Amino acid sequence: MIDKQKTLWNTSAEIAQRLKVTLDDYRRLMTYFNCAMMEVETKFKVLNSQFSMSREYNPIETIKTRLKAPESIMEKLQRKGLPMEAASIENNLYDIAGVRVICPFIDDIYLISDCLLAQDDVKLIEKKDYIKNPKGNGYRSLHLIIEVPIFLYNEKRAMKVEVQLRTIAMDFWASLEHRLRYKKNLDEELAGALASELKYCAETSAELDLRMEKIKNEIQNAKDED
Ligand code: GTP
Ligand code: MG
Repeated sequence: MIDKQKTLWNTSAEIAQRLKVTLDDYRRLMTYFNCAMMEVETKFKVLNSQFSMSREYNPIETIKTRLKAPESIMEKLQRKGLPMEAASIENNLYDIAGVRVICPFIDDIYLISDCLLAQDDVKLIEKKDYIKNPKGNGYRSLHLIIEVPIFLYNEKRAMKVEVQLRTIAMDFWASLEHRLRYKKNLDEELAGALASELKYCAETSAELDLRMEKIKNEIQNAKDED
């Protein structure tokens, strides 16, 4: 654990040098993003506990958070031809702080995202609905880029956070597809066959999500009539 932490800082030092930022500035910026990520995570936890109390049901199954690794930040700046500077990270990369929310059902996703976006300190920057408009490979999720304030002892800063909301089934699918995406040296024919099998799985899984949701709603309606 200690070794892992040490390697992370060492890597950051090297990357900071290549990014033309001081290590202090880099760490400060990452701390701000980390704070924003915690704020957003807390917002989801608050919503989940309120719903769990009022409806005796949890619309959120899991919340995962991650800060983009220094190597990935550098790779993305390079790929997009952006300047290697701290300001460039903050102004151009909207996925430094990432929060992934996994819900049992599709309607939970819209319920939770509507509640989040209705909060007066949350500003929506961008919304991509890959549930209503799935990607060609079958990928489904609701993506939001939001801006939230963090309150430091001497200032208030607006920070961007990427939120991905998906069902358990969509998350299961995306994890497997991610493995295929990063598998190097795969035979071209096999890669194609696996991609089309994955696409089929995405459709089947989306249908399962809908059917399960229907069952859930019918159980709910029957309960309400009791
Ligand atoms: P970036 O510059 O890469 O952020 O492009 P973008 O902003 O157009 O990305 P988009 O909002 O479509 O997706 C951002 C994130 O969603 C990715 O970093 C992944 O975590 C996830 N994602 C998007 N498409 C896929 C996909 O096809 N498969 C999987 N497994 N994840 C995806
Ligand atoms: Mg993005």
